[in-house]
Amino acid sequence: MGAVWGTIFVVLAAISVTHAQLSPTFYDETCPNVTDIVSGVIQNASQSDPRIGASLIRLHFHDCFVQGCDASLLLNDSATIVSEQQALGNNNSIRGLDVVNNIKSALESSCPNTVSCADILAIAAQSSVVLAGGPSWTVQLGRRDSLTANLTLANLNLPGPNSTLETLKDRFSVQGLNATDLVALSGAHTFGRAQCSTFVNRLYNFSGDGNPDSTLNTTYLATLRQICPQNAGGTNLTNLDLTTADTFDKNYYSNLQLQNGLLFSDQVLFSTSGADTIAIVNNFSSNQTAFFEAFAASMIKMGNINPLTGTQGEIRTQCNAVNGASGLIMGGVASAKSQDASVSSI
Ligand code: HEM
Ligand SMILES: *[C@@H]1O[C@H](CO)[C@@H](O)[C@H](O)[C@H]1NC(C)=O
Ligand SMILES: *[C@@H]1O[C@H](CO)[C@@H](O)[C@H](O)[C@H]1NC(C)=O
Ligand SMILES: *[C@@H]1O[C@H](CO)[C@@H](O)[C@H](O)[C@H]1NC(C)=O
Ligand SMILES: *[C@@H]1O[C@H](CO)[C@@H](O)[C@H](O)[C@H]1NC(C)=O
Ligand SMILES: *[C@@H]1O[C@H](CO)[C@@H](O)[C@H](O)[C@H]1NC(C)=O
Ligand SMILES: *[C@@H]1O[C@H](CO)[C@@H](O)[C@H](O)[C@H]1NC(C)=O
Ligand SMILES: *[C@@H]1O[C@H](CO)[C@@H](O)[C@H](O)[C@H]1NC(C)=O
Ligand SMILES: *[C@@H]1O[C@H](CO)[C@@H](O)[C@H](O)[C@H]1NC(C)=O
Ligand SMILES: *[C@@H]1O[C@H](CO)[C@@H](O)[C@H](O)[C@H]1NC(C)=O
Ligand SMILES: *[C@@H]1O[C@H](CO)[C@@H](O)[C@H](O)[C@H]1NC(C)=O
Ligand SMILES: *[C@@H]1O[C@H](CO)[C@@H](O)[C@H](O)[C@H]1NC(C)=O
Ligand SMILES: *[C@@H]1O[C@H](CO)[C@@H](O)[C@H](O)[C@H]1NC(C)=O
Repeated sequence: MGAVWGTIFVVLAAISVTHAQLSPTFYDETCPNVTDIVSGVIQNASQSDPRIGASLIRLHFHDCFVQGCDASLLLNDSATIVSEQQALGNNNSIRGLDVVNNIKSALESSCPNTVSCADILAIAAQSSVVLAGGPSWTVQLGRRDSLTANLTLANLNLPGPNSTLETLKDRFSVQGLNATDLVALSGAHTFGRAQCSTFVNRLYNFSGDGNPDSTLNTTYLATLRQICPQNAGGTNLTNLDLTTADTFDKNYYSNLQLQNGLLFSDQVLFSTSGADTIAIVNNFSSNQTAFFEAFAASMIKMGNINPLTGTQGEIRTQCNAVNGASGLIMGGVASAKSQDASVSSI
């Protein structure tokens, strides 16, 4: 009998994991105005910071690629947490954490202890794209917040700006994302900025032969050299999209066709000979509807990466810390609770 019950338990447990699903109506009863509240704070912030939407969508990406979309990125260093915010792609680079905290405060006023920080990042990403003129999509909701972060994993999983196409594909495929997703999601570089340090290697002595990257447009090269001197100005900023800096449109792809991709990791999507990504770039460059549809589908796919659901994790009251994090004892209680949670979710 014990074995039979054991088997049934395992089967039920497997079903509950497979069926732990997100839903667009998750907050319909508990926080019906959640999307407007998130969007309102972002609109207000964008008055003084036109870059904020770009910074926010990037937070969702960097969250989802490290142990799933669980707001692990937002956790500060503490007695129990080694923050992901110091990872190579994050340190002195991610922005918008203060705006996320403002969103969280606004939500705690309207619907206390209800909306997870992981869902805030997913909604903020969509609102930011819409506000910049891009496509809308139905955001899946019901993610819960992690009790852990993983700096090591952040350094392993986040792609770097000097990545080859092969590396980019590998990093995406680990997350269940394919070449279409890679090309579509890279289209987020249609807005926002990058620091000189992330591409200056292309401008002067790219592969140690004294020449710039041959896949960089020479006119653009001259412009970029003005902004980024060889041995200074690493934190100087330039637009990721040289044509329409703050608008979410298909110009990222037409830039690539003219060798006007800013990052090496952008240009490889078009300039790697024989690559399957070239046809996808050409498609999106000639058809904004195709890009917008693919982008929306890939954002949903990215947002579905390994969420905590049901009673896993928690709803943080502050996005930068686990609940009751003021001492190690509470940290221990919290993790014991999370293990119970996955059993009782059957
Ligand atoms: C394909 C691999 C990717 C690489 C190697 C990459 C790399 C980078 C780098 C180096 C920057 C500039 C950071 C800085 O200068 O501090 C940047 C900015 C940005 N990235 Fe990516 N990225 C990738 C994919 C994505 C994806 C999938 C998204 C979102 C869906 C995204 C959204 C953004 C945005 C919006 C910015 C501008 C942020 C701002 O202005 O604050 N990136 N990315
Ligand atoms: C929802 O939030 C927005 C922005 O804060 C506000 O303008 C609107 O009145 C709110 N609607 C409801 C029903 O609370
Ligand atoms: C609006 O933005 C300003 C700064 O840009 C900030 O001080 C203020 O708190 C924001 N208000 C709301 C309601 O988010
Ligand atoms: C992050 O950047 C700061 C400078 O702002 C630096 O002191 C620190 O060493 C960096 N951390 C890592 C892990 O590289
Ligand atoms: C962090 O990720 C690394 C690499 O996958 C893994 O080896 C390690 O066990 C993780 N650490 C924690 C605390 O989960
Ligand atoms: C990527 O996956 C999507 C479904 O998520 C599919 O429609 C698309 O054809 C795939 N692309 C490639 C290159 O396999
Ligand atoms: C960037 O990548 C290129 C080609 O893959 C390589 O030749 C170069 O050394 C790399 N540069 C840096 C700074 O990693
Ligand atoms: C380019 O870099 C290589 C090795 O990194 C170095 O040997 C060479 O002197 C540099 N050339 C110039 C022109 O800076
Ligand atoms: C970039 O930084 C350098 C040195 O820090 C500075 O001299 C230069 O004027 C800056 N250029 C731009 C366009 O900001
Ligand atoms: C370089 O960019 C300019 C526009 O910025 C474009 O007219 C030119 O054709 C591009 N050159 C190449 C080789 O694509
Ligand atoms: C553009 O893409 C959309 C969506 O994939 C498609 O329905 C439409 O036929 C395409 N238009 C052209 C001119 O190819
Ligand atoms: C262009 O992209 C759209 C959206 O991913 C896809 O439906 C369509 O089949 C693609 N068209 C071509 C010619 O590749
Ligand atoms: C997290 O760190 C930020 C920046 O250092 C700080 O402003 C914020 O108050 C911290 N939050 C918590 C809960 O410790």
